[in-house]
Amino acid sequence: MKKIVLPVVLCLLMGAGAFAQKRLGNETGQQKKERMAWWTHDRFGMFIHWGLYALPARHEWVKNYERMTNEQYQKYFDLFNPDLYNPAEWAKMAKNAGMKYAVLTTKHHEGFCLFDSKYTDYKATNTPIGRDLVKEYVDAFRAAGLKIGFYYSLIDWHHPDYTIDRVHPQRAATDEEYDRLNHGRDMNVYRTYLKNQVRELMTNYGKIDILWLDYSFPGKHGKDHNDWDSEALLKMVRQLQPGIIINDRLDLKEYEDGWDFTTPEQFKVPEWPTWNGKKIPWETCQTFSGSWGYYRDEMSWKNTKQLLVLLIESVSKGGNLLLNVGPTARGTIDYRAQNALASIGKWMKYNNRSIYGCTQAPEGFKTPANSLLTYNPVTNRLYVHLLDYPLTNFTLPGYKGKVKYAQFLHDASEIAITAPHGYWLKMEQNKNDLNLRLPVLKPPVEIPVIELILN
Ligand code: GLC
Repeated sequence: MKKIVLPVVLCLLMGAGAFAQKRLGNETGQQKKERMAWWTHDRFGMFIHWGLYALPARHEWVKNYERMTNEQYQKYFDLFNPDLYNPAEWAKMAKNAGMKYAVLTTKHHEGFCLFDSKYTDYKATNTPIGRDLVKEYVDAFRAAGLKIGFYYSLIDWHHPDYTIDRVHPQRAATDEEYDRLNHGRDMNVYRTYLKNQVRELMTNYGKIDILWLDYSFPGKHGKDHNDWDSEALLKMVRQLQPGIIINDRLDLKEYEDGWDFTTPEQFKVPEWPTWNGKKIPWETCQTFSGSWGYYRDEMSWKNTKQLLVLLIESVSKGGNLLLNVGPTARGTIDYRAQNALASIGKWMKYNNRSIYGCTQAPEGFKTPANSLLTYNPVTNRLYVHLLDYPLTNFTLPGYKGKVKYAQFLHDASEIAITAPHGYWLKMEQNKNDLNLRLPVLKPPVEIPVIELILN
């Protein structure tokens, strides 16, 4: 008897726990799914990190890493003049790469605003360029048919009322020093500033599709949802932009609707991320070379195959990829980033059917050797991405009876479903396996894709 009672009680408790999860609004799960449908479908976006840090060109955290004061950092503001800025060109590059949305840093941790905010003088309109660069981005990207995202840094290393914390350039060594440095700083004032600026961003630029707030770091000398008044901030944003999709860095994870998607950064998730036992929407953000802002001397650029794998692997686990560019202080996209985007675009032109609208393969489809699977539930097609091109025989483990037709995606050329060729294979192949006969020559595609039309 006891053996049965315990699991039942546990289930009830867990059910009650899930039921009792806090909420800020009253959107249903189905409504959330519909609100996020375009994003889940599109899978691939461009992150753009641009600010004063493009001038030192050695990481967007340079002010922090080198512990610069506002005065020392001022020279970048005085010289900021991206005379070649042409967001229509950026939009074109994003589009050609197959990206469907973009997220631009309207303000990064340094505190500098690319937009014309009425709550600060620390903005692009007061630099030599003298223009609202956010407005131009919105107009150009929207005109190109891309969805519009804003990144806004919760952290602010310039605002006089923002308290010094453990990730601040002027961070202290002792509690006493923190007290001394923060004397006279008032987070209440900063909170109002932050809210005012987010309201401007949510009001002055038309429909905004994504908001990326960055970031909370609870704990000693840290900042959490109380510092940002995250609950009120989120409510305001949802009210001003009802369709918007918001990331998960407001420190509101305890609310079921305190965030829309999770944001694994610069690493690969081992599997589809879950929260409270449920698979959740996710987007990994990744750089070409390590830093987010333009970094002239960085040499660790990922190659085309690595970048494509980031995208395909994300989709294979039900997620999105937000791939970053760090434009220069002239307003251009560095040649290495341009080349990378173009190579991705070359692949996407012929293979995007395995990305858009796709997700993790249904259970029951085992991943063949050296490959990644994606699946389109609407067309019922399965995509096998060949990471290491096989020699003629390719085994689909346990696929017998499940496949109607096989072809290469890039040229729609038929791939024969045949008995394996070669004596040993015949002996070893499992009765439920299916064998494809591939051409000896690897097609001229970085990662060839087999499209399987399923029964
Ligand atoms: C981190 C970094 C920041 C970057 C962001 C992108 O929070 O502080 O520089 O903008 O990640 O996800």
